[in-house]
Order: sequence, then structure tokens, then C-alpha cells
Amino acid sequence: MNIQDKDKKYLGREGAVRSLVVRKAKGVYLYSDQNKKYIDFFAGWCVGNVGWNPGEIVKQIKKFDGPNYVSPGYYYRGWTDLAEILAKISPGKLIKSFRATGGTEAVEIALQAAMSHTKRSKFISIEGSYHGHSIGAMSVGASDFRTWYSNLLPGCHKIRTPLNKKAAREVEKLLSKRDIAAFISEPIVCNLAVEIATKEFFKIVQAACKKYGTLFIADEVATGFGRTGKLFACEHYDIKPDIMTIAKGATGGFGALGATLMTSEVAKSFEFDFSFYSTFGWHPLNVEATIANIRYFLKHKEKLLNNANKLGKYFEKRLNAMKFKVNPEIRAKGLAIGLEFRKAGYPSKIINKCLSKGLLVANAGSTNIIMFPPLNLNLQTARQGLDIFESCL
Ligand SMILES: Cc1ncc(COP(=O)(O)O)c(C=O)c1O
Repeated sequence: MNIQDKDKKYLGREGAVRSLVVRKAKGVYLYSDQNKKYIDFFAGWCVGNVGWNPGEIVKQIKKFDGPNYVSPGYYYRGWTDLAEILAKISPGKLIKSFRATGGTEAVEIALQAAMSHTKRSKFISIEGSYHGHSIGAMSVGASDFRTWYSNLLPGCHKIRTPLNKKAAREVEKLLSKRDIAAFISEPIVCNLAVEIATKEFFKIVQAACKKYGTLFIADEVATGFGRTGKLFACEHYDIKPDIMTIAKGATGGFGALGATLMTSEVAKSFEFDFSFYSTFGWHPLNVEATIANIRYFLKHKEKLLNNANKLGKYFEKRLNAMKFKVNPEIRAKGLAIGLEFRKAGYPSKIINKCLSKGLLVANAGSTNIIMFPPLNLNLQTARQGLDIFESCL
């Protein structure tokens, strides 16, 4: 049986499968089983931020000779080391990390901690957003989820884009009832094809959260580790969150790990008996991989962030000069790039054509295209990829 038929028979899927059998990943390229080379402007949706398989990280992981498993109730050096690194690089007063296996679990922990700390159960989030696929995460995600799962958490208010002063005043009004546990958002909304809030939006929301006793959860699962040209996207707005979630780019794809960082006040109300338990949260090998990836990132931080900002502008300029059949709104922050067409059909045609010509781009919904290339992409490959993209319009 060929891989496509076997896959169809045995593997549960979340959506359509792209016609690419991945065999190898190196730098900014993926290679198929036929050894066809693809420029990767997708990076596994903000996972491979430092490019695939940097030798330095591979070498470090290969040296690992620690335990193959540690039960959550013991001490383990890797956990405290990673938690310390995260506390040191995170914005504001975030200090304690809770251990998750990925982004969804990190968000789940964040929601539970907010409920536990505030003794409230309602949330505010951005309409159309995505925070993972658990019942809790879907409750604060797009309202569309309710057409499939009618019994998601009640009391989840959704704020529509654009995220400007008017939207912030709407949040403020909801918060004034003093029954909202947390406001949750990506600081730059990658999952809405890079929706960029005005500075005023987050300024008003942050102040209102403080005033009315609501926690601010920054979901940096996609934006964290340089994607938007800052280590964390919170830095664009001077957001000092009470809780922050990370995953994806933290591991660079070398492991499966998420973390929920909290201030000491929030952590205190969440450290009760049996508050959150995850058998494989921060598995030793994933911790080793994450530490190696983050150390590599920090060592090359200036270069990676400068490149992301410089190339982001190049992408924006090139895309704005292209002739589309349906004109998109083009948004870029670092190397988080979104093209919003507000019309279904055309984006998926472009994406498929790009795939056949050796370029990987993706979509977040049917009306847009997103590009999240590795932050170490060079200008020559950026140009080559964008030339392919332009030829597919
Ligand atoms: C902003 C955001 N939060 C949470 C998640 C869920 O992460 P995971 O797929 O690791 O569970 C995602 C995944 O795409 C995400 O983009």
C-alpha cells in the first residue's frame, strides 16, 4: 500500500493533507521522499524559528545521557535550569513556569490558573483567534468551534477586529462588571493572518485589567522566540502579562514542550494540591532539546532579530508591489507575514500552486495566506521564494 492510502486508512487527520511526503529538513528547506527541495516559508507554523536542524543544537542533544523519564514529583536539574532561563528572559514579573507538553496544555493551565486566582470563570478573547484544541482553549478561540462542540465553556466574550481604541473600550466595559477571570490574546495575532493591534488597544486593555482585577494572559505560543522581530511580541506594546504561554519556537521542533509562566502572586494561588499534573510535561529529552534550542537562540539573538526585522520589510515591500487577482491587505511584523484577501478560494489556489513549484506557504482560514519563514533566512532565498510566489498569483 502506498503512503497516501495507508495514511487514509490508519491516521486520523484534522483537515486536508498537502501532497508532500517529508523526508528531511535542513536550514530553510524541506526535502520530499523524491528528494525535491522546498523553500519553507512556513516553518511548521512558527516552530522552526532558527531553521531546521542546526548542527550546534543536534550535537548538544546527542550528548544527552540523563534519565529517559522523571516523574513530576521529583527534583530534576533540567526542570529548574529551564524554568530559571525562562524567568530571566520573559517580560514583566513572570517568574514561575508550569510544565506542559505543548501549546494547548499551556493555554489550559493559563485558563485554570486565572480561574483559581480570581475565583471567576469568564474570559475575553479575540473573535476568530486560535489558542489550541482542548475544550478550554476552543472556548476562548473562534466562535465557529461552537458549531461543532455546543457545550464549550460559557461566559467567553469575543472582541472583533480591528483591535483599536473602540475595541479596547468594549473590553473595558465588559471588565467593569468585575466578573472576568482573564483577557487572553496573542500580542500580534498570528492566527488571524497577523492582525496587529494599535498601541492604544493594549494600553487601555492592560490598564482596565489591572483596575478591575482581571488577569492578562499573553499567548506567545506562536509569537514567542523572535517571530515578530522581538524575543516576545509583548515587547512591541510593553505588555507585562500576569500569565504567558509558550511552546513551538521554544523547542525549535526538537521536542514537544510548552510552559505557562506566571507572576509569583498568580502562581501562589495555583500551587495547591493536584492543581495541574502532566505525566509527560517537560519530559527530560524535550527539556534538554529546549534548553539547547533557547541557548542557541540567545547566542544568536541580535543577528536573528535584526534579520527578521530587515527581511520582514523586504517581504512587505515585495508583496505590496505584486499584482494579485484579488487585492489583499498585507501585514507584517518581523517575519510574521499575513495576506488577508477577505475572499475564499483564491488563497488556496495560490498555496497549492506554490507547493507544486517548491515553495511552502500556508493559511489560517480560507481567506488568507500566511508566511512564517525561519528567522535565519537569507535575502537570496527570500527573493527566490517570493519570485516563486509572484509566479503563482
Ligand atoms: C497562539 C497559539 N496558541 C496555542 C496553540 C496550540 O499549540 P499546540 O498545537 O502546541 O497545542 C497554537 C497552535 O497553533 C497557537 O498558534
